[in-house]
Amino acid sequence: MSEIGSYSGALLGHVETLYRPGERELAIELAEALGCTIKDTGFKGDGVDTFLAAHPNGDDLNPQLNAFYMSQMRPEQFAVEERLREFAEADEPFAALLDGYRHAARTKPFGVPHFAIRYPSRAAIEAVEGRINSSLKTKLGDRLNLRVFYPGDSDAAVGNLVQGFIHQDVIVSGSFLMGQIIELQSQP
Ligand SMILES: [Fe+2]
Repeated sequence: MSEIGSYSGALLGHVETLYRPGERELAIELAEALGCTIKDTGFKGDGVDTFLAAHPNGDDLNPQLNAFYMSQMRPEQFAVEERLREFAEADEPFAALLDGYRHAARTKPFGVPHFAIRYPSRAAIEAVEGRINSSLKTKLGDRLNLRVFYPGDSDAAVGNLVQGFIHQDVIVSGSFLMGQIIELQSQP
């Protein structure tokens, strides 16, 4: 099967993600560092700008399948996120709970909500790691953490898989305050 559209069975189609107001270009930069090809769908819906589709396979740009979409966070979520951020600034125990969650996401990501991109080889994941560490890591500072588990690592979950986990708050399919893990997975 060379084109996802030729598969006729049921299939996980897409993930809907968001970026913060003013961070469309940053979201594109991160998705491109992940190796994705970005296409503007032209669809705007009720948002302020169009939905972008990030395609893991640049040779098969099916607009509906095997993609995650990126558009700007809506006002309703922005209001909730801002209120939570204010709580976190004013409430030390709550801030500590958030820190605890982020720490777990960065050290024990296997039970933390995420979506995964499958890569064709270990080298492809190493290339992503190189791109992230050479540019975005400096730009984003503590907003991004990347940990790659290689076969043989004592804390790797599955012995024959390369699994990278990027925890960041640029592209999320949930809460910006809690951040989003995107897994990079390469099968042997
Ligand atoms: Fe996973």
